[in-house]
Amino acid sequence: MIVTIDGPAGSGKSTAARGLAKRLGFDFLDTGAMYRVVALCCLERGIAATDEQAASEATRSIDMQVRDGCTFMNDHDVTAVIRSPEVTESASVVAGIAGVRDELVNWQRRAVGAKNIVTEGRDQGTVVFPEAKCKFFLTAAPEERARRRQQDLERTGVIVDFDEMLRLIHERDER
Ligand code: DC
Repeated sequence: MIVTIDGPAGSGKSTAARGLAKRLGFDFLDTGAMYRVVALCCLERGIAATDEQAASEATRSIDMQVRDGCTFMNDHDVTAVIRSPEVTESASVVAGIAGVRDELVNWQRRAVGAKNIVTEGRDQGTVVFPEAKCKFFLTAAPEERARRRQQDLERTGVIVDFDEMLRLIHERDER
């Protein structure tokens, strides 16, 4: 059975999906981590996040693994580094590239197969698994989402101004 949780950045999808998967004994798929890996790969290879062709090719070349709460890029554990503000910003740009999305959507469908899974992202119930039996859409006020993102970053030692965080949330929503 597939359960999808969609919604914008900072709405609490990951926390809800992780908690639900644990309660149900299902697997959990964090699809945002995958867009973050593509962004990291582009940053490391000097590919502009707006370069559609190069970013799509890079996506195809990555050996990506998302398991047990950890994310691997070509066998390197990138779980922490993909949460940096630089990768967060870049992930939002590469996520707008059709070639990148096609590749990751195919990967997600292959990875889920016939598993019992809770999957979260912004397109899981609408585009990737429209046949899912159980779909949620979570949202929250932009100010609350900015406050959550700010707290997440503070936990990793990164201090960001609230107004700047709110501006970035609005910018990402537009994209
Ligand atoms: O949920 P997150 O912040 O980890 O997601 C990282 C970026 O990837 C964010 O800009 C939204 C985007 N994303 C997407 O476009 N589609 C998904 N299924 C998951 C994330």
